[in-house]
Amino acid sequence: MRIAVLGLGAVGKGVLRVLGEKPELGLVLTGVADSTSAWIDPAGIDPQTVLDRKCETNRCGSEGRSAADILDSGAYDVLVEVTPTNAATGEPALTHIRRALGTGHHVVTSNKGPLAAAHTELEELAREQGVALRYEATVGGAIPVIHAITRGLIGNKFHSITGVLNGTCNYILTRMDDEGLTYEQALAEARQLGYAEADPTYDVRGIDAAIKLVILANTCWNLGVTLDDVSITGIDGLTVDALRLAADQDCTIRLIGEASPERGLLRVAPRVLPRSHPLVIEGTLNAVMLSTDLAGEVTLMGRGAGSIETASAIIGDLLSIRDRFVECR
Ligand code: HSE
Repeated sequence: MRIAVLGLGAVGKGVLRVLGEKPELGLVLTGVADSTSAWIDPAGIDPQTVLDRKCETNRCGSEGRSAADILDSGAYDVLVEVTPTNAATGEPALTHIRRALGTGHHVVTSNKGPLAAAHTELEELAREQGVALRYEATVGGAIPVIHAITRGLIGNKFHSITGVLNGTCNYILTRMDDEGLTYEQALAEARQLGYAEADPTYDVRGIDAAIKLVILANTCWNLGVTLDDVSITGIDGLTVDALRLAADQDCTIRLIGEASPERGLLRVAPRVLPRSHPLVIEGTLNAVMLSTDLAGEVTLMGRGAGSIETASAIIGDLLSIRDRFVECR
């Protein structure tokens, strides 16, 4: 199966590393683009050579070529769209994904922007064209929560989704709670360790978690909701005193996303939880609790971010497309 990768940040590099280390998966790289260059070869490109070139020159391919050239070439079966997220417009990823789906190519993405902006439209386009749109990597990093909802738990009615959906906030809250750091100190640490985004506003104001909640709600219930429908409170106003008060009751505080059409609920906010609660997890972990009619409560927990962890979700999507749609070439 031929793969074109658009975007060569942490996630794109993780995908190329896995493609290089696991040739037995039968995923052949035929196109790769970053923001200033591109490389297309229908015969196949060695992923490690791309990574070395990127490291040495900060470009993955020829200057003057771009993502558009790869899309025009059609020399791929699946587009892996891993350019940076733009939560306001979804661009440029939205254009890339529309183009790929519209010309009959499967799409796998970790990019939350296009899903937040146009989930229903993109699903319809994929259906019309008879191709797949897969986005496991948009929510919960390595955790296979979209697969759980759309495959493992298919046949269940979902009552609610509750989760810790942002690793940066969870790290900050854990450090404030465990070490008594102030919010500012914990945030500085998260940034230094590379957990927080370059602009951490999306993390700490709850926007990143809200986008992920929108993606989960639309996957579960096909509600067609957007970021504007979510009631959002971040952790940027939280004090060490609030955590101390919670600790006095043997509780702590976590940023929790909750969705339940039955209860008219679509909310991201800090919540006081008993320390024994399954969503009280440490550091950059994420967790999602699904309440269902047949399976009861199912909680999935794992690494919510990271280059190789997110690549794991993308590879899972690629192989599920290969098994369902495409004969190995
Ligand atoms: N900034 C995000 C987080 C990265 O901290 O969870 C993964 O989407």
